[in-house]
Amino acid sequence: MPTCRICGTPLHTFLDLGHHPLSSAFPAPAEAPGAACDAFRYRLAVGRCERCALVQLTDDIPHGYRPYPGYPYHSSGSTVMREHFRATGRHLLRTELSGTHTPFAVEVGCTDGVVLRCLADAGVRTLAFEPSGYTGHGGIRVHRAFLTAASAREAVAAEGPAQIVYAANTVCDIADLPGLFAGLDELLAPGGVFVFEDPYFGEIVGRTAFDQFYDEHRYYFTATSVRALAERFGFRLVGIERLPVHGGQLRYTLARAGRRPPSPAVAELLAEEAGRGLTDPAVLAAFAGRVDGVREDLVALLEELHAAGRTVAGYAATAKSCTVTTYCGLGPHLIPYICDSTPAKQGRLTPGARIPVRPPDAFAAPYPDYALLFAWNHAAEIMARERAFRAAGGRWILYVPGVRVV
Ligand code: TYD
Repeated sequence: MPTCRICGTPLHTFLDLGHHPLSSAFPAPAEAPGAACDAFRYRLAVGRCERCALVQLTDDIPHGYRPYPGYPYHSSGSTVMREHFRATGRHLLRTELSGTHTPFAVEVGCTDGVVLRCLADAGVRTLAFEPSGYTGHGGIRVHRAFLTAASAREAVAAEGPAQIVYAANTVCDIADLPGLFAGLDELLAPGGVFVFEDPYFGEIVGRTAFDQFYDEHRYYFTATSVRALAERFGFRLVGIERLPVHGGQLRYTLARAGRRPPSPAVAELLAEEAGRGLTDPAVLAAFAGRVDGVREDLVALLEELHAAGRTVAGYAATAKSCTVTTYCGLGPHLIPYICDSTPAKQGRLTPGARIPVRPPDAFAAPYPDYALLFAWNHAAEIMARERAFRAAGGRWILYVPGVRVV
């Protein structure tokens, strides 16, 4: 029986989406299916800890099965996200970093470094802990290591303690959370804070956004589970903010125990989560039923369009699309290609489904009748940019919170 990675208590598995390839394993067309990077499969099932309420993938992904070199994620690939990260930088300068004489700020997992760039431009000393081989960090200083007690001690010896440690879309992927908290304990000044943002499990349930489940998101946090996690490691959840990005995220602020009272928003969200029954097996079973319903509706729609001779393309070969195509059994027969702006994905095939990835220009050459939007979290930005598609008679297919054509 799978157990909680944090407290060892048995997990209650409430969703099992079957066996999936890694969401970043895009094979080249010449790679034979059995030997290609997308041949590996893991079971994509999600469970809730009966004790600390932490929602997590039930299966571990063995070491060695990580994204190929040239990991194609850029946190600021969307203009909305770039602006979100700049606004985050300005917000941190106004709040946690204001009034400090020579502030030192650290980011964990910074990809292209927009937040730290913004802080560095305002005179803050910055350092990123980024173990991946990715190199497009916008000129900020990078320590190629995970944040652990040992790497934190090195940083403190060189720079002194940090006023803030920030992470976006990273903590949900860190297998060794005890190691992370040991690093935070070494690195943070006594009054320092850890601020992190990740997809919110409450939104995933509310929107039936099951495609947020994939190998790189190991944990799906709530205020309830983050409070328990923080307390286990000597911290307190003192702040919560709702963020509209990526289909609904939460930004959590953690301080050392006894340093700061929690803001009213913390108690409000804890009460809301209890009222919604986010840890209630019946609520989670109903969610799993809705996920099944989305699959049935989406497959029925795509088969109907195919039978009627309509063309359908995918838009954005996201990690989320890997979950959808695998769980729904979609392949090139129903979606002959997916257009995506990431050069490293273009000319390759999507993981498992083996749908060819084409550059964005291919979208208009000629337009398909329908486009299945796998980056639904960027819908407003993409639909505005691609307004000529609708003007030419094209229609978008969305599947969050339910299947619909717009
Ligand atoms: P994101 O929602 O961050 O995806 P993920 O599920 O992978 O975390 O979107 C990033 C992907 O979507 C990336 O492959 C690029 C693609 N994309 C486009 O092709 N066009 C766009 O306009 C946007 C915003 C993303």
